[in-house]
Amino acid sequence: MPIVYLNEEYLPLEEARVSVEDRGFLFADGIYEVVRFYGGRPFRLEAHLQRLQRSGRQALLPLHGGVSDLPRIIERVRSENDLQDAEIYIECTRGAAHPRGHPFPAQPAPTLLVMPVPIHALPSGALTRGLSAVTTPDIRWRHCDIKSIMLLPNVMAKQQARDRGAFEAIFVRDGVVTEGASSNVFAVINGVLRTHPADPDILAGISRQVVLELAAELGLETRENPFTLGELYSAEEAFLTSTTLEVLPISQVDHLPLGDDCPGPRTMRLWQAFQETTAGLSSQNMEIA
Ligand code: PDD
Repeated sequence: MPIVYLNEEYLPLEEARVSVEDRGFLFADGIYEVVRFYGGRPFRLEAHLQRLQRSGRQALLPLHGGVSDLPRIIERVRSENDLQDAEIYIECTRGAAHPRGHPFPAQPAPTLLVMPVPIHALPSGALTRGLSAVTTPDIRWRHCDIKSIMLLPNVMAKQQARDRGAFEAIFVRDGVVTEGASSNVFAVINGVLRTHPADPDILAGISRQVVLELAAELGLETRENPFTLGELYSAEEAFLTSTTLEVLPISQVDHLPLGDDCPGPRTMRLWQAFQETTAGLSSQNMEIA
């Protein structure tokens, strides 16, 4: 049974309980992060914690003890569970308040949860065969930059993708591709690597940022510039990025084939560079050992 951290206690998952009056449960009034570990070391932990802090600031949600304790808590959850390659889920809600009411409680007692989550298996041959995606209207609110637990549109979109035989749902707002239900989207259009700018219409993914840095190092021409669904259909290459997927090619959109080769050459170079970056973490660990 995994050990989780909940409000200053480390305890078995089955013993971790939050109130039915928790505002996360009643209002989805909370924020979250997912951090990946490679060889026992966190990948871009600082960036994840900065984003959590930013989400907290935007949602006017005071983080329990600030984020300064989180590296220690996350590491303890990792070590208690003896994890090497894993994901750790962090959630902070505005806590339980009685009676139920929309306004913020006068004295919020935030809930903080840190728990390990298994890394979902990817579809077989995801790199060589690519992933399929379907598009769906982006009906979400105008603050998708907050990593909110209010994920109903995202889970509905993801389920729609599964029901239509696809892996990911790609949101389209006013004809423009924003992001995936739980990933960011890149496309190579006329030789230029494009992705939606980090504005309130998307979550500024940490993996997206890593890919932008790697693309710059590789000398790939890149633009954070919105692209249309039509441009995605005729893109030379496209791929998804996220903590869980890292970098994986999209081979089909709305059941139409995308690009000539899978993975395309730029996707492959970025996938390779991403693997080298994360392998670097594991090998640093081996050097310490
Ligand atoms: N989701 N966009 C959305 C809507 C997301 O939910 C995610 C990640 C991303 C990619 O962000 P990052 O590269 O920082 O993981 C983009 C996580 C993994 C999740 O909900 O499980």
